[in-house]
Amino acid sequence: MPVQIIVGAQWGDEGKGKVVDMLAERADIVARYQGGANAGHTVCIGDKEYVLHLIPSGIFHPHITCVIGNGVVIDPSALMSEVAQLENAGINISGRLLVSHNAHLIMPYHKHLDTIREQTSNRIGTTGRGIGPAYIDKAMRIGIRIVDLLDRDLLAKKLKTNIEEKNQLLTKVYGETKLDVDAIISEYQEFDKKIDEYVTDTSLFLRGALKDEKRVIAEGAQGALLDVDHGTYPFVTSSNPTSGGACTGLGIPPTAVNSIVGIVKAYSTRVGNGPFPTELLDETGERLRTIGQEYGATTGRARRCGWFDAVAARYSAEINGIETIAVTKLDVLGTFEELRICTSYEYKGKRLKTFPTDVSSLTHITPVYETFEGWQTSLLHTKTHNELPTQARHYLAAIAELMGTRLWIVSVGPRRDQTIMVS
Ligand code: GDP
Ligand code: IMO
Ligand code: MG
Repeated sequence: MPVQIIVGAQWGDEGKGKVVDMLAERADIVARYQGGANAGHTVCIGDKEYVLHLIPSGIFHPHITCVIGNGVVIDPSALMSEVAQLENAGINISGRLLVSHNAHLIMPYHKHLDTIREQTSNRIGTTGRGIGPAYIDKAMRIGIRIVDLLDRDLLAKKLKTNIEEKNQLLTKVYGETKLDVDAIISEYQEFDKKIDEYVTDTSLFLRGALKDEKRVIAEGAQGALLDVDHGTYPFVTSSNPTSGGACTGLGIPPTAVNSIVGIVKAYSTRVGNGPFPTELLDETGERLRTIGQEYGATTGRARRCGWFDAVAARYSAEINGIETIAVTKLDVLGTFEELRICTSYEYKGKRLKTFPTDVSSLTHITPVYETFEGWQTSLLHTKTHNELPTQARHYLAAIAELMGTRLWIVSVGPRRDQTIMVS
């Protein structure tokens, strides 16, 4: 390997959880590099379904060590309840989960501020998990980090200063009531005992593991088009899901990375607000949502659905350096007579082959489609690429070619055994 980055190449929910779980069989470490409990990564093992928000999707393989890197923002209550849920399901976490001492904490006031801001006219359609406000504090250099939980006095001091400042904001700008400093301090002081066993210098651990030639999967959350720098700003998340984020979010050098795998759904979905060129607001969109069960794994919101957007996906492949792709949910298209892929945009009377990231252009473009014949067969039991109907192979080849990538994996169902390795 040594480091293989798995990145969502659309607007999130591409099936990263499934693919990471599957690839973890041949890895030693799975490390999450950004985002927080806004993510919902689903792993299906047999008839059991698990949704992970913070813990990397390699946790179901007993030989895997899971790392939550410095780039992740951690809500300790969400983390502890995820640990408890997995342990209740018989998954042993002890000794297998390492949390970066430098990761920033999500505090109750971050979630509160996220929710309040979403009630204004500047709605992004966030998950309400406090992600934006936590990354604001990190960039402002007033954030509280995991390591601060381990020093009770320092934690109390830092929290007091922070909460006093937030109270000014809440009362003066939003006309809200003040936060209770003491209640928050005592709630967070409780986390130190629970979290202590997991906290370490994960960058040091990973660098050591790389020297020992361990195989590391860097698991991205969200998707490239939600990247704060390269996505459809401002309708993005507040971190860098793109492959570049893996190095800063884990404390590993770019030279350690030797492959970048992009996960794409065979059609497009998006949750929350923001431009979505191929969105289908008709019966076809509804059909994709119903068959694909397109409801958020974190918030339960209905996902917006549309045809595969190859202009957006090619952009994503280029900025991430994606060489190989995993195409997921191909089975969902099995009843359609006809399928479409957007191959270019029309903008102000001109053909556009590159993806404009500014919202104004994106809302005024018209997608130009190529039509593909559907295969109208169930793929749920297909095991090899050769067994796929010709129309399905043609559709997959078009996606790979339009993205300038090589097709590596095809997913035809949520379970591990519903996966086709192409080469
Ligand atoms: P992630 O955030 O990228 O990990 O994706 P999510 O877990 O939010 O959403 C993907 C959903 O599709 C989950 O419910 C998965 O169980 C499911 N899924 C993944 N791959 C496939 C597939 O090939 N076919 C079908 N039908 N469902 C899939
Ligand atoms: P996974 O890892 C899909 C979206 C939200 C909103 C925007 C900003 O499961 O693919 P935030 O709470 O991050 O400030 O919200 O980003 N969003 C996701 N959409 N999948 C996700 O994660 C997402 N995480 C955030 O809906 O539009
Ligand atoms: Mg998800």
